[in-house]
Amino acid sequence: MITNSTGLHLTITDPPQTLERETGLIGGVSVVVSRKKLKDLQGLFADRNAYTLLDPETLVYSVQAHMPVDEGTPGGLFFGNTIVEPGKVGNEYFITHGHFHANADRAEYYWGVKGEGILILMDLDRKTWGERVFPGSLHYIPGNVAHRLANTGPIPLTVGACWHSDAGHNYDEIDMNGFSARLYEVEGSPRLVEVCR
Ligand code: PA5
Ligand code: NI
Repeated sequence: MITNSTGLHLTITDPPQTLERETGLIGGVSVVVSRKKLKDLQGLFADRNAYTLLDPETLVYSVQAHMPVDEGTPGGLFFGNTIVEPGKVGNEYFITHGHFHANADRAEYYWGVKGEGILILMDLDRKTWGERVFPGSLHYIPGNVAHRLANTGPIPLTVGACWHSDAGHNYDEIDMNGFSARLYEVEGSPRLVEVCR
């Protein structure tokens, strides 16, 4: 962990971490990895029947995060990437869980590295919209906007992210009420379909 610069006077060093340009992966110190399989995402997808027919060990997404300060520290930044695997549950594309930030007004940047998908966004009024994600796309996610990624292509979707170290994750609202729309493949193309409540 980098806490101060004591002892660095006049030294020139390699950085403690690297970013692989081709894959978007982080190498080096203080990198945390998490993986979500279908069995970890019970209730996330609309088609419960299709869900039970799939192998629960199927990987849906993985996250790499470089966290140089403790989570919750004001003023710091975290840097990471999410890889969403290609796949569907019924007609619904593989997605991340989705969240508001615990410190709800904290914003975040996402950018597309590899593959294609949709960034699904929902504001506090439960208005949901999407932005296309592709290599080179850049997405500013304002505070108070829930965000979730969907892979709509045939290869893994890799997306970079940078967020405040005191943003945190609030999954409760999504666990309770979901997004107001889901992303389905309809006639061969992705379409946001309003959820009837
Ligand atoms: O900080 C972010 O928004 C991302 O790194 C997400 O945490 C990542 O995409 C995984 O999504 P979720 O946290 O909704 O499971
Ligand atoms: Ni976030």
